[in-house]
Amino acid sequence: MRSRTIGLLGLGTVGQALVSIIQEVHPDLHVAKALVRDVNRHRTIDIPMTTRPEEILFDPEIDLVVEVTGGRELPRQWITQALAANKDVVTANKEVMAYYGSELLAAARQSGRQLRYEAAVAGGVPILDALTHHLSVVPLRRIDGVLNGTCNFILSQMEHGASYTEALAEAQRLGYAEADPTADVGGDDTARKVLLLAQLGFHLEAAIESVDTVGITGVTAHHLARLETFHLGLRLVGSAIWDKDSLSLRVAPTVYRVPHPFLDLEGPDNAIRVVSQAGAFWFQGPGAGGYATATSVISDIFRIRTHNGSLNPPPPGHYPIRQATSRYVCFTHDPDQSLPLGLPGELQRLGSYAIVAPGFSQEALDEYGLCQFLWGEET
Ligand code: HSE
Repeated sequence: MRSRTIGLLGLGTVGQALVSIIQEVHPDLHVAKALVRDVNRHRTIDIPMTTRPEEILFDPEIDLVVEVTGGRELPRQWITQALAANKDVVTANKEVMAYYGSELLAAARQSGRQLRYEAAVAGGVPILDALTHHLSVVPLRRIDGVLNGTCNFILSQMEHGASYTEALAEAQRLGYAEADPTADVGGDDTARKVLLLAQLGFHLEAAIESVDTVGITGVTAHHLARLETFHLGLRLVGSAIWDKDSLSLRVAPTVYRVPHPFLDLEGPDNAIRVVSQAGAFWFQGPGAGGYATATSVISDIFRIRTHNGSLNPPPPGHYPIRQATSRYVCFTHDPDQSLPLGLPGELQRLGSYAIVAPGFSQEALDEYGLCQFLWGEET
């Protein structure tokens, strides 16, 4: 194994954690330089810095580029340039991989370099590695994941009495939330991650627009309190579901019966359930935060170091993407109002809530005085 000279694009939470871990425990890796917006900003780590990406992308001493900036268009350009300059690339950027992953992986294959992105989904949890290797030998049926720590944190804080605004501000302070947290709470961050999981798990290429996405902005403390009285709980879940010869991709606030492993996630931890013909596999661990994410980046660097040349898989196939068949849990908004008898599409009634399919329009919900969320369990 030869040592690697790394050029780092981005020195935020993940970039700084990466440099610290390398300096403390991996003396065989060398971070030569980091791209930053402002070299004068105070940082605890000591490393050469530049504001000019070309000083990293075209430095012949640098043979591996790590991109941890976030965003879409500039990272796309930088990753393309790094691969063309014969450098391997590791990125933690789910956005650039969800939008331009096919193009960038093709560029890596063409240049004979590697592009790895384990840290882009579920932070420190080695789920992409598991899907690429161990689970690639068995047909999968579905992948469900709680993939956004900010949403877990907000929902659990609201369950404990905090307001949405307070909980979001705290998630930002703790460094879980994106620079623009709209992507967290609106479900787009989870959509990007579930797309990346589906592409590997089901060997397909799909556009991000094919993920039917609903975030948590419509979930209130009142909803969570009502669900709690039924011994139910809610998390934002991304799902990729294979049925016969088509796939559905969706993100939605989803309800489960207590206890459920997804409902135990209160902070940055993520969990993924992969259901295959060999049974269900569970993966859980820290999905956000500098140290966990940097762990996956370093793991990718070691993978690249032990395998010379391109290991990126061949381009996948295309499958029809369809609307998921869904069941919903319905209950009255007003706890003093009883659930109307014989709701259209009613499949089951469990005390004060009912499971229905296919779900109600907003007009029907208003007419019956109901709230409705996706039901995550088999009926
Ligand atoms: N904003 C993301 C989250 C960071 O809250 O999970 C990790 O991708």
